[in-house]
Amino acid sequence: MAHPHDSVIVIDFGAQYAQLIARRVREAKVFSEIMPHTASVAQIMAKSPSAIILSGGPQSVYAPGAPQVDPALFAQGVPVFGICYGFQAMADALGGRVARTGLSEFGRTTASVDAPGTLLAGLPSAFSIWMSHGDSVQDAPAGFLPLAHTPGAPVAAFEDADRRLAGVQWHPEVLHSEHGQTILTHFLYDIAGCEPTWTPASIVDDAVAAIRAQVGDAAVLCGLSGGVDSAVAAALVHRAIGDQLTCAFVDHGLLRAGEREQVMQDFPRITGIKLVVADAEDRFLSALTGVTEPETKRKIIGREFIRTFEQTVRDIDADAHIEYLVQGTLYPDVVESGGGEGAANIKSHHNVGGLPDDLQFKLIEPLRTLFKDEVRAVGTELGLPDEMVWRHPFPGPGLGIRIIGEVTKERLDILRQADAIARHELTESGLDREIWQFPIVLLADVRSVGVQGDQRTYGHPVVLRPVTSEDAMTADWGRLPYDLLEKISTRITNEVREINRVVVDVTSKPPGTIEWE
Ligand code: XMP
Repeated sequence: MAHPHDSVIVIDFGAQYAQLIARRVREAKVFSEIMPHTASVAQIMAKSPSAIILSGGPQSVYAPGAPQVDPALFAQGVPVFGICYGFQAMADALGGRVARTGLSEFGRTTASVDAPGTLLAGLPSAFSIWMSHGDSVQDAPAGFLPLAHTPGAPVAAFEDADRRLAGVQWHPEVLHSEHGQTILTHFLYDIAGCEPTWTPASIVDDAVAAIRAQVGDAAVLCGLSGGVDSAVAAALVHRAIGDQLTCAFVDHGLLRAGEREQVMQDFPRITGIKLVVADAEDRFLSALTGVTEPETKRKIIGREFIRTFEQTVRDIDADAHIEYLVQGTLYPDVVESGGGEGAANIKSHHNVGGLPDDLQFKLIEPLRTLFKDEVRAVGTELGLPDEMVWRHPFPGPGLGIRIIGEVTKERLDILRQADAIARHELTESGLDREIWQFPIVLLADVRSVGVQGDQRTYGHPVVLRPVTSEDAMTADWGRLPYDLLEKISTRITNEVREINRVVVDVTSKPPGTIEWE
């Protein structure tokens, strides 16, 4: 299929940087996709890329079994940009000299510009950058202009403007590298000639056309979770096919305060989508009685979810034959399950409650090429309000995995109150967008002694778990201001009778996960 926009292929050499590079390219309004380094030149060229970026990787170009670049890649007439390992691999493949200098550079260092060329045009003569390499390029390949050096790398950037090939030894994609985005756009726009046309509006237009072509006049179902992804996916499909779409929302009783109301009232009002709600609190809570083990809880919740969903489908499908199911699968899920080539093995926890294959639907996955921040931009483009678009991610098993111990209605109500207070105060403080997610965890089987109004108390602790993250794969603990922590703590202990202690989780991921179970 001819692509309406320029498209850049990022070749993943196995470090964690490929996704970041792809995001930065997209921030420059150029579509990008990741392919594994095992892809052949023919497979890469089959995508008709406007440019190719070789990412960083953990290895030395000369290490046994190190991923190689087929020199044929540079003879296709397609512009190529090498980053870190990709820069060295490019130098090596084109006849430059790469050597161990005995000097490793990790972390911050300074790039000194020798000749700016096109890549470094307009930049200061020296700037701060982020490196991680042991080998370095001693001599650029014939035809290349060396552009900069660092204390440990005699050739730290080069370009061959005629062949439209360029590279840098450092990591322009990380925020610690100054002028990184400028360098990337110099490559994309000025060397490769890409046009910045990939915008939220164009994403919506393209998706609407693709969904219409795929679905025709068939009936479509979307499971709503109350989260951003399913809401945006539903709104996008609705924009494409209107009333052919029905949404289903399962209230499993493990939701946060106000969540069901928000979905039931706001969603149809704002989007005009038909919504069916399944009341399943009793069913879930009785299945969870006596269960404390986290994986068992997840399995039970997943199983009950499927049963409820199937029942809901049967109820709806009495009049309409539903052929398609919408899923809010995002690009990181696709990349992590095999780079988007062939059948995607979507991790069960990214499905709405882990829907099984034998549901016999064809899938529509309109967010399959998007990162989370792009999904939010598309939501805004579709006119969804900030409260919906900027909601924090919330796990399918809900508060069930935020109660350490048995899940009961009483405990859920306690946690719901504490959670509502913490969320409200975070929003009031204006920090919603700084914080990726803010789970509140009830340690239901732990008690501690306290004193309140001259009375001894023997209540439960709650844990505040604010985290910052870009994609939930890794996370850092969120540094909430002390004043805000104090306010949350005071309000929770005053307003939620059963809680007499509030603690903060200061663990990054890894080693801790974001959720406690
Ligand atoms: P962890 O706890 O593994 O979570 O660091 C990473 C991200 O995934 C969310 N999460 C889930 N989402 N079903 C979901 O839909 C699940 O079973 C589930 N478990 C964790 C978590 O909230 C965080 O955003």
